[in-house]
Amino acid sequence: MNPDVSLMAEFVADQTAFREGTAVILGSGLGSFADQLTDPVVIPYGDIPHYPRSTVAGHSGEFVVGRLRGNPLIVARGRFHFYEGYDYHTVTLPIRLFHKLGVNRLIITNAAGSMRPETPPGNLMLIKGHMDCTFRYGIELPRCFTGHPFHSPNLLKLAKTAAERVAVPLKEGIYCWVLGPAYETPAEIDFFRELGGDAVGMSTVPEIQAAAEFAIPTLAISTLTNYAAGIIDKPLTHEEVLETADRVKSSFIRLLTEIVVLINAGEECRAGNQDLL
Ligand code: HPA
Repeated sequence: MNPDVSLMAEFVADQTAFREGTAVILGSGLGSFADQLTDPVVIPYGDIPHYPRSTVAGHSGEFVVGRLRGNPLIVARGRFHFYEGYDYHTVTLPIRLFHKLGVNRLIITNAAGSMRPETPPGNLMLIKGHMDCTFRYGIELPRCFTGHPFHSPNLLKLAKTAAERVAVPLKEGIYCWVLGPAYETPAEIDFFRELGGDAVGMSTVPEIQAAAEFAIPTLAISTLTNYAAGIIDKPLTHEEVLETADRVKSSFIRLLTEIVVLINAGEECRAGNQDLL
């Protein structure tokens, strides 16, 4: 079935005042950002006609629509992954919905494993590029995609300004997308690192690709919740991922809030050429 996104958008628009603005997708354990919104309207995914459900621990499965420091925001608390059995079309459905709703900036967040010993868990990392390491179509070496139209140069610049203003340390690196649901082997992590990857995770890249199709300027940020397999001599667990996400949540919220404020203050225009958004 090919669900009608217009009907879904109508359903959301009927219940909220959101007509245009920024969308945020929250990764595992990062859902508390949505509690900052004023006048929130919570729409469980299950209430939206034909909308899929999210099945992962740490993902609640709802939109929260409201304002952050006066700025309109739609927040997805919970996303869809391939490892839940969803196809590309379903995983990227939220982006098509955002497009219909008038979203003009997208901030994607995730939990990811750090592949760099010098960057321990607890750090936040701006995604300046990505590699599709799913090998869904064969054994060709993954390519690294940076800049326009996937990673808005102006939003990256703006995020660095925001991080300075709220004094939150921010790394920058390349995100490798894998299918999961199992964590990687140490050999896979060595390979991704040799290709130039810095972090590894099971989401985000399909959403970035879909947003690029709609020319929605996008910023992606990882919370490095654990060392990737084999970096240290300790098994990794989903509990560790959620624990670290919880530990960094106050700096994560401060950074994200400042980014939303700067976007709405038109800071990107000053950061550079509008055409490159
Ligand atoms: N690998 C894949 N996905 C992840 C990881 C990881 O180490 N940490 C959080 N999501």
